[in-house]
Amino acid sequence: MAELSDVYFVDGTRTPFGRAGEKGMYWNTRADDLVVKAMKGLIERNAEIPKDRIDDVAIAATSQTGDQGLTLGRTAAILAGLPQTVPGLAVERMCAGAMTSVTTMAASIGVGMYDVAIAGGVEHMGRHPIGSNSDPNPRFVAERIVDSGALNMGVTAERIHDRFPHLTKERADRYGMLSQHKLQAAYEAGKIQPDLVPVAVIGPDGQWGLATEDEGRRPETTMEGLATLKTPFRPHGRVTAGTSSPLTDGATVSLLASGAAVKEFGLAPKMKLVSFAFAGVEPEIMGIGPIPSTEKALAKAGLTIDDIGLFELNEAFAIQVLSLLDHFGIADDDPRVNPWGGAIAVGHPLAASGVRLMIQLAAQFAEHPEVHYGLTAMCVGLGQGGTVIWENPHYTGKKKKQK
Ligand SMILES: CC(C)(COP(=O)(O)OP(=O)(O)OC[C@H]1O[C@@H](n2cnc3c(N)ncnc32)[C@H](O)[C@@H]1OP(=O)(O)O)[C@@H](O)C(=O)NCCC(=O)NCCS
Repeated sequence: MAELSDVYFVDGTRTPFGRAGEKGMYWNTRADDLVVKAMKGLIERNAEIPKDRIDDVAIAATSQTGDQGLTLGRTAAILAGLPQTVPGLAVERMCAGAMTSVTTMAASIGVGMYDVAIAGGVEHMGRHPIGSNSDPNPRFVAERIVDSGALNMGVTAERIHDRFPHLTKERADRYGMLSQHKLQAAYEAGKIQPDLVPVAVIGPDGQWGLATEDEGRRPETTMEGLATLKTPFRPHGRVTAGTSSPLTDGATVSLLASGAAVKEFGLAPKMKLVSFAFAGVEPEIMGIGPIPSTEKALAKAGLTIDDIGLFELNEAFAIQVLSLLDHFGIADDDPRVNPWGGAIAVGHPLAASGVRLMIQLAAQFAEHPEVHYGLTAMCVGLGQGGTVIWENPHYTGKKKKQK
């Protein structure tokens, strides 16, 4: 009989994220090529693991069609040069696709069936605009099961503002601005680049180039500039391009391993899985989803929010992050939260983002041996939230000296 096993996040890589659309750096690049590129980078830098020991490859995409269709985990594994004996699957849970790839593979490792797995996601929002080729059942609206606005994520964000008027537009703008500034500071300190796999691209001008950095950053963002932006989701609304994650192309992958595999291959894992949970909420205000999923994941771990030393929260919209922080009594600018900025600045290629959160948390764990636990969480379209809690293998139990 197989035995229950610990689960480790060994490593993660991603492509730089591109602005979706004709002017974006990946307009002429296939979605599956993005994930293949990220996977090759991951495999190369973890060469101590024999490729034929990878038990499965789970790759998520929200639009399961075209170059994001055809059982991505399997096709990407073959294209990335893994042996044909390595199987693969596709995963879909909208924005939490990559997170679900990780939890699904983690569960397979946890029950002792797998030793090593690859989990990630991709979204080319330029080639596959959000909701394209979907055919929601008319009963949702006709029978008033779900309001029509629930299918437009920006509209659901406006509704969080309605529900929590003390979370003002000004607070959201400030949050959005700080995300941009924090990401830029992280770039300048060289913290983001090590986990990026450069991608050769044919640019909008038809010339070959190399994508090496996230394209959508707006480090020059000011409160004054944000105050002038249009509110595309509602006339005189509160959500703007400055407080929304931009439409983005990109791919992420991670390598997960059992305790036995860590020993066998002499790996130095970056994080250990503690618990995870998904939860459902009203689809009309989907952005509050990570609140119940975080409560569930904390309860499963036997931890409280005060035990969490670092948070990587997906910034689908500033207002939905603020609703979570407010719920748990955490300040808008708490330094434990998204210290290197978030999706508002770096972008949110839907089904890829979950692993981007984990990559950043893992890198921060290495810098913070005084932090014991960290948390990755995100909201999910149609009213869901997902949370994964991780333990820091570098934890020393000592508080970092104040400078
Ligand atoms: C909000 C949204 C509609 C904006 O799309 P867009 O109009 O194509 O975005 P742009 O990047 O062109 O920005 C719009 C304008 O705001 C400006 N802008 C954006 N961010 C800014 C910032 N931080 N500071 C100053 N100006 C900014 C742009 O320069 C642009 O100005 P212009 O119209 O004068 O050119 C789009 O990003 C969106 O739908 N986001 C949400 C995606 C989503 O739902 N994801 C799933 C989450 S669950």
